[in-house]
Amino acid sequence: MAHRLEQVKTSFFGKGAIRLLIPELAKMQVRRALIVTDRFLFDSKAAERVGDVLLEAGVSYAVYYNVKPNPGIDVVNECIRAAQSLEVDLLVALGGGSAIDTAKAASIVMANGGSVEMYEGVDKSVRRGIPIVAVNTTAGTGSECTAFYIVTDPARKTKMSMVDHNCMVAVAVNDTDFMSSMPPKLTASTGVDALTHAIEALFSVNANPITDKDAAWAVSVIMEYLPRAFADGTDEEARTMMAYAEYVAGNAFSNAGLGMVHAMAHALGGHYSLPHGVCNAVLLPYVLAFDMSFQEGLERFPKAALAMGLPIGGSYVQIARSVLSNIRNLLRTVEIPSKLSELKGVDPKDFEQLSALAMQDGCMTTNPFQPTMEQVMAVYSSAM
Ligand SMILES: [Fe+2]
Repeated sequence: MAHRLEQVKTSFFGKGAIRLLIPELAKMQVRRALIVTDRFLFDSKAAERVGDVLLEAGVSYAVYYNVKPNPGIDVVNECIRAAQSLEVDLLVALGGGSAIDTAKAASIVMANGGSVEMYEGVDKSVRRGIPIVAVNTTAGTGSECTAFYIVTDPARKTKMSMVDHNCMVAVAVNDTDFMSSMPPKLTASTGVDALTHAIEALFSVNANPITDKDAAWAVSVIMEYLPRAFADGTDEEARTMMAYAEYVAGNAFSNAGLGMVHAMAHALGGHYSLPHGVCNAVLLPYVLAFDMSFQEGLERFPKAALAMGLPIGGSYVQIARSVLSNIRNLLRTVEIPSKLSELKGVDPKDFEQLSALAMQDGCMTTNPFQPTMEQVMAVYSSAM
């Protein structure tokens, strides 16, 4: 099978990495930027800290600070109007997946015209989007290094998945100074999102030796360092390693694809406006337990076991059980809710509709096997 591999050209890592942007922006020859962020990062002066770096590089800026969790079409359109009226030539996304995905959507529409709905699917745009610098504040969605973005369509109460190589950011910044104030709950849910990226990339039908190498490394690092970052947000080593791991997991899934956990999480998060990381984190062990009923699923577990340093003797079922128990221990340690019933608003009467949406989600196409809609419903029910 042939594989396409692509990654962000320039990335900066570590404490104080934001300052590496100054010479880089000079090379990019940009003049006016719009910082795309949320109200919290604006009020906490994080946007101003990024703005100071832009000014030092000779780039003037304005701030759009109305990004919401699970950003919808309205947020993207508002951001586009702000960027166009200010005639900016650079978008600087500051935040986690929501801010970066808003900037990616705006960038594609600004360069290609039309409306964001036109770009749902795979590689629907013609031109590369206007340049984006992504300053990531979580570890994380991996959005700063992937060709994926998600926009919520409130009319359909669902999330549109876009896979578009024209949306990839020009420069990714993972500066731990912007991550150390993440509260433990967000550290946990975004960290398990990154773990899910790595595991789904390992299990994907489109995995290859390079994505496997990245995904396995990310799994091993997240299992070791997420509990530390959760327990002590000021643990610089843990924050740094989580930043590298979520980026590497992002590279793995951007090139290998995801699977059923994300397909189900997109439907769930879109319907109830729940955080992406939390949806994945709750669903992960239930989908992995379901994977064990399929030979194509079972055969993937030794890859995860190796990454976790677990013994790979014994049957596939024994290996799968030990992977699952290791993951459940991690989820307990970082206090992830154990059931969907603990999430606000989730109602089993919606599971049929959610399952239909999950079946259509692009992430399902790279799952190691194709479940039936009834099976997806059964997994939602098992997680309740
Ligand atoms: Fe994710």
